[in-house]
Amino acid sequence: MDIGIDQIGFYTPNKFVDMVDLANARNQDPNKFLIGIGQDRMAVADKTQDAVSMGINATAEYLDQVDLEQLGLLIFATESGIDQSKSASLFVKEALNLPARIRTFEIKEACFALTASLQVARDYVRAHPHHSAMIIGSDIARYGLATAGEVTQGAGAISMLIKENPAIIALEEGHTSHSENINDFWRPNNLATAVVDGHYSRDVYLDFFKSTFKPFLAEKQLQVSDFAGICYHLPYTKMGYKAHKIAIEGQDDETVKRLSDNFQLSAKYSRQVGNIYTASLYMSVLSLLENGDLEAGDRIGFFSYGSGAMAEFFSGKVVAGYQKRLRPALHARMLKERIRLGVGQYEDIFTEGLEALPENVEFTSDANHGTWYLAGQEGYVRQYKQK
Ligand code: COA
Repeated sequence: MDIGIDQIGFYTPNKFVDMVDLANARNQDPNKFLIGIGQDRMAVADKTQDAVSMGINATAEYLDQVDLEQLGLLIFATESGIDQSKSASLFVKEALNLPARIRTFEIKEACFALTASLQVARDYVRAHPHHSAMIIGSDIARYGLATAGEVTQGAGAISMLIKENPAIIALEEGHTSHSENINDFWRPNNLATAVVDGHYSRDVYLDFFKSTFKPFLAEKQLQVSDFAGICYHLPYTKMGYKAHKIAIEGQDDETVKRLSDNFQLSAKYSRQVGNIYTASLYMSVLSLLENGDLEAGDRIGFFSYGSGAMAEFFSGKVVAGYQKRLRPALHARMLKERIRLGVGQYEDIFTEGLEALPENVEFTSDANHGTWYLAGQEGYVRQYKQK
């Protein structure tokens, strides 16, 4: 029985900062950000968007096509949690009227958490054929104003439906994992921004890629040339590009060209949105599917990395007719219709986002029609509304 991705919803807030503007404001050469880091724009979440509202928006995109009778599991993966105790998924469940009988919870392991959700969902469907699972990854990446990590911020969510006979990607059996207890990136409970050793994190990411990719090929008896494309966790696109260069080392010209072209297509959304932490890998997959020209049966590699650190490599095959399940025009419009913030405006929004939510203050949203947003807080309970 094939199990895999049947739906992919995507959401990013309606504001961004251009990397040239940011470079100029920080007295940096714009090419450092555009080429050295590999980013063009970064999405900015104002106070009306948090991990929950973005997760609702990504899921609402495909909800009308889900058979709710079959839905049995809802997992919310985030490192931008809004509560130490209660799962963000319960807010999603209420907003979208999902059935009361489903099992639902939140999980965390930095940017690996959505992959963990995917594997749990796959096992769930294996154990409960005919049932489906919804998994959501949603984050706001915050490093701090004028820090080295500032250029690798962003915000957004990916929501996926996992079921048998999927319409988009059928996951293949097998995976290789690697974990070690290290301190490359983390966010202690009392901090609103991440603590990061970016150069160390880059080195660990590449080491973990080597520890999972080659063993995966050996275990599955595959060659690099058997992949149509490889998608990477992209906190910034240059990081994935470094792993891509390792993957194509010593390959024939055709393989190098195909994997390099498809790497650029997989990085297209990331260049515009920035870092969305745990959903970043799956935004790369969506970007490749919506901007590339893959054929039925093409194999995609997935490299997932979460700081702390945990990595996994696995693969899936593109399903015939997958294009009909995608919404490239909707996503192109969502990215195009965003508001370009001046750096000062972004700094004000960023600073406000670090503060505790005020009680009983109603927020209004300037997002496009149909968008869910955070309308404020009453008695420490976050209030979500739809425009
Ligand atoms: N033109 C083109 N490229 C330039 C340049 C210019 N004018 N100036 C610098 N660069 C290149 C550098 O050569 C370097 O490329 P390389 O990595 O291929 O060598 C790149 O830009 C970055 O330069 P660097 O000096 O390393 O930047 P930095 O010290 O400001 O840090 C990060 C960059 C990515 C480490 C930092 O933004 C960060 O820590 N981000 C967070 C990463 C993270 O979250 N990791 C954990 C999650 S996986």
